[in-house]
Amino acid sequence: MAHPAPPRKPSPAAARRGGPLSGRIRVPGDKSISHRALMLGALAIGRTEISGLLEGEDVLATAAAMNALGANAARRGDGGWTVDGIGVGALAEPENLLDLGNSGTSARLLLGMLATHPITAFLTGDASLRRRPMGRVVEPLSRIGARFVTREGGRLPLAVKGTVDPVPIVYRLPVPSAQVKSSVLLAGLNTPGETTVIEPQPTRDHTERMLRHFGAAVSTAPEEGSGLRITVEGFPELAAAPIVVPGDPSSAAFPLVAALIVPGSDVTVAGVGINPLRTGLLECLEEMGADVTLLNRREKGGEPMADIRARSGLLNGADIPAERAPRMIDEYPILAVAAAFARGRTVMRGLAELRVKESDRLAAIAAGLARCGVRVAVEGDDLIVEGAGKLPAGGASIETQLDHRIAMAFLVLGLAAHEPVGIDDTAPIATSFPGFIGLMNGLGAAIAEEE
Ligand code: S3P
Repeated sequence: MAHPAPPRKPSPAAARRGGPLSGRIRVPGDKSISHRALMLGALAIGRTEISGLLEGEDVLATAAAMNALGANAARRGDGGWTVDGIGVGALAEPENLLDLGNSGTSARLLLGMLATHPITAFLTGDASLRRRPMGRVVEPLSRIGARFVTREGGRLPLAVKGTVDPVPIVYRLPVPSAQVKSSVLLAGLNTPGETTVIEPQPTRDHTERMLRHFGAAVSTAPEEGSGLRITVEGFPELAAAPIVVPGDPSSAAFPLVAALIVPGSDVTVAGVGINPLRTGLLECLEEMGADVTLLNRREKGGEPMADIRARSGLLNGADIPAERAPRMIDEYPILAVAAAFARGRTVMRGLAELRVKESDRLAAIAAGLARCGVRVAVEGDDLIVEGAGKLPAGGASIETQLDHRIAMAFLVLGLAAHEPVGIDDTAPIATSFPGFIGLMNGLGAAIAEEE
Protein backbone atom coordinates (compact mmCIF):
# COMPACT_ATOMS: atom_id res chain seq x y z
CA MET A 1 0.00 0.00 0.00
CA ALA A 2 3.00 2.31 0.09
CA HIS A 3 3.44 2.83 -3.62
CA PRO A 4 1.87 5.89 -5.24
CA ALA A 5 -1.06 4.90 -7.44
CA PRO A 6 -0.23 4.91 -11.15
CA PRO A 7 -1.92 7.69 -13.14
CA ARG A 8 -5.49 6.67 -13.92
CA LYS A 9 -7.67 7.63 -16.86
CA PRO A 10 -10.81 9.42 -15.65
CA SER A 11 -14.11 7.64 -16.36
CA PRO A 12 -16.84 10.15 -17.27
CA ALA A 13 -20.58 9.54 -17.12
CA ALA A 14 -23.76 11.42 -17.97
CA ALA A 15 -27.27 11.32 -16.53
CA ARG A 16 -30.34 12.19 -18.56
CA ARG A 17 -34.04 12.68 -17.95
CA GLY A 18 -36.18 9.55 -18.36
CA GLY A 19 -39.16 7.75 -16.89
CA PRO A 20 -40.06 7.44 -13.20
CA LEU A 21 -37.82 5.66 -10.71
CA SER A 22 -39.36 2.82 -8.80
CA GLY A 23 -38.35 -0.09 -6.64
CA ARG A 24 -37.06 -1.25 -3.29
CA ILE A 25 -33.30 -1.22 -2.81
CA ARG A 26 -30.60 -1.43 -0.17
CA VAL A 27 -27.62 0.89 -0.12
CA PRO A 28 -24.14 -0.14 1.07
CA GLY A 29 -23.27 -0.09 4.77
CA ASP A 30 -22.71 3.06 6.78
CA LYS A 31 -19.23 4.44 6.19
CA SER A 32 -18.77 5.92 9.67
CA ILE A 33 -19.92 2.76 11.43
CA SER A 34 -17.83 0.53 9.14
CA HIS A 35 -14.60 2.39 9.96
CA ARG A 36 -15.33 2.20 13.67
CA ALA A 37 -16.23 -1.51 13.54
CA LEU A 38 -12.82 -2.31 12.03
CA MET A 39 -10.92 -0.05 14.41
CA LEU A 40 -12.65 -1.15 17.61
CA GLY A 41 -12.54 -4.75 16.39
CA ALA A 42 -8.75 -4.38 16.12
CA LEU A 43 -8.55 -2.97 19.66
CA ALA A 44 -10.78 -5.67 21.15
CA ILE A 45 -9.78 -9.10 22.35
CA GLY A 46 -11.27 -11.89 20.26
CA ARG A 47 -13.00 -12.13 16.90
CA THR A 48 -15.49 -9.44 15.90
CA GLU A 49 -17.97 -10.49 13.22
CA ILE A 50 -19.30 -7.69 11.04
CA SER A 51 -22.20 -7.97 8.62
CA GLY A 52 -23.06 -5.27 6.13
CA LEU A 53 -19.59 -3.66 6.19
CA LEU A 54 -19.21 -1.02 3.48
CA GLU A 55 -16.69 -2.37 1.00
CA GLY A 56 -15.88 1.08 -0.32
CA GLU A 57 -12.33 2.26 -0.87
CA ASP A 58 -12.32 4.42 2.27
CA VAL A 59 -13.22 1.52 4.53
CA LEU A 60 -10.85 -0.86 2.74
CA ALA A 61 -8.09 1.65 3.53
CA THR A 62 -8.97 1.34 7.22
CA ALA A 63 -8.98 -2.47 6.97
CA ALA A 64 -5.53 -2.42 5.38
CA ALA A 65 -4.27 -0.08 8.10
CA MET A 66 -5.60 -2.36 10.85
CA ASN A 67 -3.77 -5.29 9.26
CA ALA A 68 -0.59 -3.24 9.01
CA LEU A 69 -0.88 -2.60 12.77
CA GLY A 70 -1.07 -6.29 13.64
CA ALA A 71 -4.82 -7.05 13.69
CA ASN A 72 -6.41 -9.35 11.14
CA ALA A 73 -9.38 -7.92 9.26
CA ALA A 74 -10.59 -10.20 6.49
CA ARG A 75 -13.57 -10.85 4.25
CA ARG A 76 -15.22 -14.21 4.69
CA GLY A 77 -16.71 -16.31 1.90
CA ASP A 78 -20.29 -15.25 2.74
CA GLY A 79 -19.48 -11.53 2.36
CA GLY A 80 -19.22 -10.89 6.11
CA TRP A 81 -16.02 -9.59 7.67
CA THR A 82 -14.12 -10.70 10.74
CA VAL A 83 -11.56 -8.80 12.75
CA ASP A 84 -9.21 -10.67 15.06
CA GLY A 85 -8.30 -8.00 17.56
CA ILE A 86 -5.11 -7.59 19.51
CA GLY A 87 -6.29 -5.46 22.41
CA VAL A 88 -5.85 -1.86 23.54
CA GLY A 89 -2.14 -1.03 23.84
CA ALA A 90 -0.95 -3.82 21.54
CA LEU A 91 -0.78 -2.14 18.13
CA ALA A 92 2.45 -3.00 16.31
CA GLU A 93 4.57 -0.47 14.46
CA PRO A 94 3.62 -0.59 10.76
CA GLU A 95 6.51 -1.55 8.51
CA ASN A 96 5.54 0.83 5.79
CA LEU A 97 3.70 4.05 5.00
CA LEU A 98 -0.08 3.92 5.73
CA ASP A 99 -1.96 5.21 2.68
CA LEU A 100 -5.50 6.25 3.59
CA GLY A 101 -6.53 7.17 0.05
CA ASN A 102 -9.41 9.67 0.07
CA SER A 103 -10.52 8.95 3.63
CA GLY A 104 -10.43 11.73 6.24
CA THR A 105 -12.16 9.50 8.78
CA SER A 106 -9.48 6.81 8.44
CA ALA A 107 -6.66 9.32 8.83
CA ARG A 108 -8.06 11.25 11.78
CA LEU A 109 -9.38 8.32 13.81
CA LEU A 110 -6.24 6.29 13.15
CA LEU A 111 -4.09 9.15 14.44
CA GLY A 112 -6.03 8.96 17.70
CA MET A 113 -5.30 5.26 18.03
CA LEU A 114 -1.61 5.72 17.18
CA ALA A 115 -1.10 8.71 19.48
CA THR A 116 -1.11 6.60 22.64
CA HIS A 117 0.82 3.61 21.34
CA PRO A 118 4.61 3.84 21.65
CA ILE A 119 5.21 3.40 17.91
CA THR A 120 6.06 5.58 14.95
CA ALA A 121 3.94 5.66 11.80
CA PHE A 122 3.88 7.60 8.54
CA LEU A 123 0.54 8.52 6.97
CA THR A 124 -0.42 9.78 3.54
CA GLY A 125 -3.40 9.90 1.21
CA ASP A 126 -4.59 10.99 -2.23
CA ALA A 127 -4.38 14.56 -3.55
CA SER A 128 -7.69 15.47 -1.86
CA LEU A 129 -6.74 14.07 1.56
CA ARG A 130 -3.27 15.66 1.38
CA ARG A 131 -4.99 19.06 1.16
CA ARG A 132 -7.22 18.52 4.22
CA PRO A 133 -6.38 19.89 7.67
CA MET A 134 -4.96 17.41 10.19
CA GLY A 135 -4.05 20.17 12.68
CA ARG A 136 -7.47 19.74 14.25
CA VAL A 137 -6.41 16.31 15.58
CA VAL A 138 -2.68 16.99 15.86
CA GLU A 139 -3.41 19.75 18.37
CA PRO A 140 -5.33 17.72 21.01
CA LEU A 141 -3.27 14.57 20.43
CA SER A 142 -0.10 16.61 21.06
CA ARG A 143 -1.54 17.69 24.40
CA ILE A 144 -1.92 14.01 25.27
CA GLY A 145 1.78 13.62 24.50
CA ALA A 146 2.09 12.38 20.91
CA ARG A 147 4.59 14.06 18.59
CA PHE A 148 4.02 14.93 14.95
CA VAL A 149 5.93 16.14 11.95
CA THR A 150 3.51 17.38 9.30
CA ARG A 151 3.71 19.27 6.06
CA GLU A 152 3.02 22.98 6.18
CA GLY A 153 -0.52 23.70 7.40
CA GLY A 154 -0.69 20.43 9.35
CA ARG A 155 -1.18 18.38 6.21
CA LEU A 156 -0.33 14.84 5.11
CA PRO A 157 2.06 13.19 4.63
CA LEU A 158 2.87 13.26 8.32
CA ALA A 159 4.81 11.26 10.88
CA VAL A 160 3.32 10.45 14.29
CA LYS A 161 5.31 9.23 17.26
CA GLY A 162 2.94 7.89 19.88
CA THR A 163 3.65 8.53 23.53
CA VAL A 164 4.61 5.96 26.18
CA ASP A 165 3.31 8.27 28.85
CA PRO A 166 -0.11 9.64 27.80
CA VAL A 167 -1.75 12.43 29.78
CA PRO A 168 -5.56 12.44 30.06
CA ILE A 169 -7.07 15.69 28.81
CA VAL A 170 -10.32 17.61 28.82
CA TYR A 171 -10.72 18.93 25.29
CA ARG A 172 -13.33 21.36 24.01
CA LEU A 173 -13.91 20.94 20.29
CA PRO A 174 -13.24 24.18 18.43
CA VAL A 175 -15.22 22.87 15.41
CA PRO A 176 -18.17 20.49 15.52
CA SER A 177 -16.44 17.35 14.25
CA ALA A 178 -17.20 13.71 15.03
CA GLN A 179 -13.81 12.82 13.59
CA VAL A 180 -11.94 15.01 16.06
CA LYS A 181 -14.12 13.85 18.97
CA SER A 182 -13.56 10.20 18.01
CA SER A 183 -9.84 10.68 17.55
CA VAL A 184 -9.45 12.02 21.11
CA LEU A 185 -11.72 9.32 22.59
CA LEU A 186 -9.74 6.58 20.81
CA ALA A 187 -6.50 8.06 22.17
CA GLY A 188 -8.14 8.00 25.61
CA LEU A 189 -8.49 4.23 25.47
CA ASN A 190 -4.79 3.70 26.09
CA THR A 191 -4.47 6.60 28.54
CA PRO A 192 -4.75 6.29 32.33
CA GLY A 193 -7.77 7.92 33.99
CA GLU A 194 -10.49 9.80 32.18
CA THR A 195 -10.28 11.54 28.83
CA THR A 196 -13.07 14.05 28.17
CA VAL A 197 -14.29 15.77 25.02
CA ILE A 198 -16.69 18.69 25.29
CA GLU A 199 -18.78 19.24 22.21
CA PRO A 200 -20.64 22.54 21.97
CA GLN A 201 -22.89 21.08 19.24
CA PRO A 202 -23.85 17.40 19.05
CA THR A 203 -22.17 15.37 16.29
CA ARG A 204 -22.65 11.74 15.25
CA ASP A 205 -22.12 9.46 18.25
CA HIS A 206 -21.26 6.15 16.56
CA THR A 207 -17.93 5.94 18.39
CA GLU A 208 -19.54 6.34 21.80
CA ARG A 209 -22.27 3.81 21.00
CA MET A 210 -19.83 1.25 19.67
CA LEU A 211 -17.34 1.72 22.51
CA ARG A 212 -20.13 0.85 24.93
CA HIS A 213 -21.12 -2.10 22.74
CA PHE A 214 -17.55 -3.41 23.14
CA GLY A 215 -17.63 -2.91 26.92
CA ALA A 216 -15.89 0.44 27.46
CA ALA A 217 -17.15 2.90 30.07
CA VAL A 218 -18.32 6.01 28.23
CA SER A 219 -20.38 8.55 30.11
CA THR A 220 -22.04 11.75 29.01
CA ALA A 221 -23.17 14.74 31.02
CA PRO A 222 -24.50 18.14 30.05
CA GLU A 223 -21.81 20.79 30.00
CA GLU A 224 -22.49 23.88 32.06
CA GLY A 225 -23.91 26.53 29.77
CA SER A 226 -24.51 24.33 26.75
CA GLY A 227 -23.05 21.28 25.07
CA LEU A 228 -22.12 17.79 26.13
CA ARG A 229 -19.16 16.28 28.07
CA ILE A 230 -18.20 12.85 26.82
CA THR A 231 -15.81 10.88 29.00
CA VAL A 232 -14.06 7.59 28.33
CA GLU A 233 -12.23 5.62 31.01
CA GLY A 234 -8.77 4.46 30.05
CA PHE A 235 -7.56 0.86 29.75
CA PRO A 236 -10.90 -0.85 29.17
CA GLU A 237 -10.92 -4.53 28.27
CA LEU A 238 -12.68 -4.28 24.96
CA ALA A 239 -14.36 -7.58 24.14
CA ALA A 240 -15.14 -8.58 20.55
CA ALA A 241 -18.83 -8.06 19.78
CA PRO A 242 -20.94 -8.68 16.66
CA ILE A 243 -21.75 -5.64 14.54
CA VAL A 244 -24.61 -5.22 12.06
CA VAL A 245 -23.88 -2.19 9.90
CA PRO A 246 -27.05 -0.38 8.75
CA GLY A 247 -27.34 1.15 5.29
CA ASP A 248 -25.66 4.53 5.09
CA PRO A 249 -28.19 7.39 5.36
CA SER A 250 -25.68 9.60 3.54
CA SER A 251 -25.77 7.17 0.58
CA ALA A 252 -29.54 6.60 0.78
CA ALA A 253 -29.93 10.36 0.36
CA PHE A 254 -29.06 10.13 -3.36
CA PRO A 255 -31.77 7.67 -4.54
CA LEU A 256 -34.28 9.26 -2.13
CA VAL A 257 -33.79 12.78 -3.49
CA ALA A 258 -33.76 11.36 -7.03
CA ALA A 259 -37.20 9.86 -6.33
CA LEU A 260 -38.46 13.24 -5.07
CA ILE A 261 -37.43 15.15 -8.19
CA VAL A 262 -38.12 12.63 -10.98
CA PRO A 263 -41.90 12.84 -11.65
CA GLY A 264 -43.94 9.72 -10.89
CA SER A 265 -41.22 8.05 -8.78
CA ASP A 266 -41.73 5.81 -5.75
CA VAL A 267 -38.55 4.38 -4.16
CA THR A 268 -37.96 2.60 -0.87
CA VAL A 269 -34.49 2.21 0.60
CA ALA A 270 -34.58 -0.61 3.15
CA GLY A 271 -32.51 -0.94 6.33
CA VAL A 272 -31.13 2.61 6.52
CA GLY A 273 -29.50 3.94 9.70
CA ILE A 274 -31.63 6.64 11.33
CA ASN A 275 -29.37 7.67 14.20
CA PRO A 276 -30.90 11.04 15.17
CA LEU A 277 -27.49 12.69 14.76
CA ARG A 278 -27.57 11.73 11.05
CA THR A 279 -31.12 12.58 10.01
CA GLY A 280 -30.96 16.34 9.50
CA LEU A 281 -31.64 15.89 5.77
CA LEU A 282 -34.95 14.13 6.46
CA GLU A 283 -36.03 17.09 8.61
CA CYS A 284 -35.16 19.50 5.81
CA LEU A 285 -37.01 17.45 3.21
CA GLU A 286 -40.07 17.32 5.44
CA GLU A 287 -39.97 21.11 5.83
CA MET A 288 -39.77 21.37 2.05
CA GLY A 289 -42.99 19.37 1.77
CA ALA A 290 -41.42 16.15 0.50
CA ASP A 291 -43.32 12.88 0.64
CA VAL A 292 -40.87 10.81 2.72
CA THR A 293 -41.99 8.16 5.21
CA LEU A 294 -40.11 5.97 7.68
CA LEU A 295 -41.39 2.41 7.97
CA ASN A 296 -40.51 -0.63 10.04
CA ARG A 297 -38.32 1.14 12.61
CA ARG A 298 -36.03 -1.20 14.54
CA GLU A 299 -32.71 -1.25 16.40
CA LYS A 300 -29.65 -3.46 15.88
CA GLY A 301 -26.32 -3.41 17.70
CA GLY A 302 -27.13 -0.11 19.40
CA GLU A 303 -28.06 1.75 16.19
CA PRO A 304 -31.63 2.53 15.02
CA MET A 305 -32.70 1.79 11.43
CA ALA A 306 -35.79 1.95 9.21
CA ASP A 307 -36.99 1.57 5.63
CA ILE A 308 -37.36 4.97 3.98
CA ARG A 309 -39.90 5.58 1.20
CA ALA A 310 -39.79 8.65 -1.04
CA ARG A 311 -42.38 9.65 -3.63
CA SER A 312 -42.06 12.50 -6.09
CA GLY A 313 -43.94 15.74 -5.59
CA LEU A 314 -43.64 19.48 -5.35
CA LEU A 315 -40.92 20.86 -3.07
CA ASN A 316 -40.79 24.30 -1.47
CA GLY A 317 -37.73 26.30 -0.47
CA ALA A 318 -36.75 26.28 3.21
CA ASP A 319 -34.49 28.06 5.67
CA ILE A 320 -32.02 25.52 7.06
CA PRO A 321 -30.50 26.59 10.40
CA ALA A 322 -26.76 26.36 11.07
CA GLU A 323 -27.40 24.25 14.21
CA ARG A 324 -28.58 21.42 11.97
CA ALA A 325 -25.36 21.28 9.94
CA PRO A 326 -23.48 18.69 12.05
CA ARG A 327 -26.44 16.30 11.74
CA MET A 328 -26.40 16.42 7.94
CA ILE A 329 -22.93 17.66 7.11
CA ASP A 330 -22.44 15.26 4.18
CA GLU A 331 -25.91 15.87 2.73
CA TYR A 332 -25.58 19.48 1.54
CA PRO A 333 -24.63 18.62 -2.05
CA ILE A 334 -27.80 16.56 -2.52
CA LEU A 335 -29.96 18.96 -0.49
CA ALA A 336 -28.79 21.77 -2.78
CA VAL A 337 -29.90 19.66 -5.74
CA ALA A 338 -33.34 19.18 -4.16
CA ALA A 339 -33.45 22.95 -3.56
CA ALA A 340 -32.78 23.57 -7.25
CA PHE A 341 -36.06 21.79 -8.07
CA ALA A 342 -38.06 23.51 -5.32
CA ARG A 343 -40.29 26.54 -5.57
CA GLY A 344 -38.71 29.49 -3.77
CA ARG A 345 -35.50 30.24 -1.97
CA THR A 346 -33.57 27.76 0.14
CA VAL A 347 -31.00 29.20 2.52
CA MET A 348 -28.49 26.75 4.01
CA ARG A 349 -26.72 28.48 6.85
CA GLY A 350 -23.38 27.99 8.57
CA LEU A 351 -21.51 25.82 6.07
CA ALA A 352 -17.88 26.79 6.79
CA GLU A 353 -16.95 23.14 7.39
CA LEU A 354 -17.93 22.26 3.81
CA ARG A 355 -14.81 24.08 2.64
CA VAL A 356 -12.55 21.37 4.12
CA LYS A 357 -14.33 18.24 2.93
CA GLU A 358 -13.13 15.97 0.09
CA SER A 359 -13.29 19.15 -2.00
CA ASP A 360 -14.27 22.71 -1.15
CA ARG A 361 -17.89 21.60 -1.33
CA LEU A 362 -19.37 25.04 -0.86
CA ALA A 363 -17.57 26.25 -3.99
CA ALA A 364 -18.13 22.99 -5.87
CA ILE A 365 -21.90 22.97 -5.25
CA ALA A 366 -22.28 26.64 -6.18
CA ALA A 367 -20.17 26.36 -9.35
CA GLY A 368 -21.92 23.16 -10.46
CA LEU A 369 -25.43 24.51 -9.90
CA ALA A 370 -24.59 27.75 -11.71
CA ARG A 371 -23.36 25.73 -14.69
CA CYS A 372 -26.67 23.89 -14.71
CA GLY A 373 -28.56 27.16 -14.95
CA VAL A 374 -29.60 27.41 -11.29
CA ARG A 375 -29.52 30.78 -9.52
CA VAL A 376 -27.19 30.28 -6.60
CA ALA A 377 -25.05 32.43 -4.30
CA VAL A 378 -22.58 32.01 -1.47
CA GLU A 379 -22.89 34.74 1.16
CA GLY A 380 -20.31 34.34 3.91
CA ASP A 381 -20.79 30.73 5.03
CA ASP A 382 -24.35 30.48 3.70
CA LEU A 383 -25.48 28.86 0.48
CA ILE A 384 -28.56 30.29 -1.20
CA VAL A 385 -30.38 28.45 -3.96
CA GLU A 386 -33.23 30.15 -5.79
CA GLY A 387 -35.66 27.46 -6.86
CA ALA A 388 -37.59 28.62 -9.89
CA GLY A 389 -40.25 25.95 -9.48
CA LYS A 390 -39.33 24.56 -12.89
CA LEU A 391 -36.71 22.17 -14.19
CA PRO A 392 -33.12 23.43 -14.13
CA ALA A 393 -31.51 23.65 -17.55
CA GLY A 394 -28.70 21.12 -16.94
CA GLY A 395 -26.56 20.60 -20.03
CA ALA A 396 -23.26 21.00 -18.19
CA SER A 397 -20.21 18.94 -17.41
CA ILE A 398 -19.16 18.97 -13.75
CA GLU A 399 -15.68 18.55 -12.33
CA THR A 400 -15.91 16.08 -9.45
CA GLN A 401 -12.55 17.09 -7.86
CA LEU A 402 -12.03 13.66 -6.23
CA ASP A 403 -15.30 14.17 -4.35
CA HIS A 404 -17.74 11.25 -4.38
CA ARG A 405 -20.70 13.25 -3.12
CA ILE A 406 -20.29 16.00 -5.72
CA ALA A 407 -20.20 13.26 -8.39
CA MET A 408 -23.40 11.57 -7.18
CA ALA A 409 -25.31 14.79 -6.47
CA PHE A 410 -24.84 16.11 -10.00
CA LEU A 411 -25.70 12.79 -11.62
CA VAL A 412 -28.97 12.92 -9.65
CA LEU A 413 -29.57 16.48 -10.86
CA GLY A 414 -29.11 15.24 -14.44
CA LEU A 415 -31.92 12.68 -13.97
CA ALA A 416 -34.51 15.45 -13.87
CA ALA A 417 -32.91 18.47 -15.61
CA HIS A 418 -33.87 19.54 -19.15
CA GLU A 419 -30.54 18.57 -20.66
CA PRO A 420 -28.18 15.78 -19.55
CA VAL A 421 -25.55 16.47 -16.90
CA GLY A 422 -22.11 14.93 -17.19
CA ILE A 423 -19.39 14.39 -14.61
CA ASP A 424 -15.74 14.13 -15.53
CA ASP A 425 -14.94 11.11 -13.36
CA THR A 426 -17.06 8.43 -11.69
CA ALA A 427 -14.11 6.77 -9.91
CA PRO A 428 -14.46 8.72 -6.60
CA ILE A 429 -17.95 7.24 -6.12
CA ALA A 430 -16.32 3.93 -5.13
CA THR A 431 -15.00 5.49 -1.93
CA SER A 432 -18.47 5.39 -0.32
CA PHE A 433 -21.04 3.93 -2.73
CA PRO A 434 -19.69 1.14 -4.94
CA GLY A 435 -22.39 0.09 -7.43
CA PHE A 436 -24.18 3.46 -7.32
CA ILE A 437 -24.73 3.77 -11.07
CA GLY A 438 -25.98 0.18 -11.47
CA LEU A 439 -28.34 0.56 -8.51
CA MET A 440 -29.77 3.83 -9.86
CA ASN A 441 -30.21 2.38 -13.34
CA GLY A 442 -31.96 -0.62 -11.77
CA LEU A 443 -34.56 1.86 -10.46
CA GLY A 444 -35.07 3.16 -13.99
CA ALA A 445 -32.47 5.93 -14.16
CA ALA A 446 -30.55 6.67 -17.35
CA ILE A 447 -26.92 7.12 -16.33
CA ALA A 448 -24.49 6.19 -19.06
CA GLU A 449 -20.83 5.56 -18.42
CA GLU A 450 -18.65 6.69 -21.29
CA GLU A 451 -15.90 4.45 -22.64
C1 S3P B 1 -17.45 11.51 9.86
C2 S3P B 1 -17.63 12.79 10.33
C3 S3P B 1 -17.86 13.94 9.44
C4 S3P B 1 -18.29 13.51 8.05
C5 S3P B 1 -17.47 12.37 7.52
C6 S3P B 1 -17.55 11.18 8.43
C7 S3P B 1 -17.18 10.44 10.84
O1 S3P B 1 -16.64 14.66 9.33
O2 S3P B 1 -18.23 14.59 7.16
O3 S3P B 1 -17.92 11.99 6.22
O4 S3P B 1 -17.26 9.24 10.46
O5 S3P B 1 -16.89 10.74 12.00
P1 S3P B 1 -16.22 15.79 10.39
O6 S3P B 1 -15.95 15.15 11.68
O7 S3P B 1 -14.98 16.41 9.80
O8 S3P B 1 -17.37 16.75 10.42
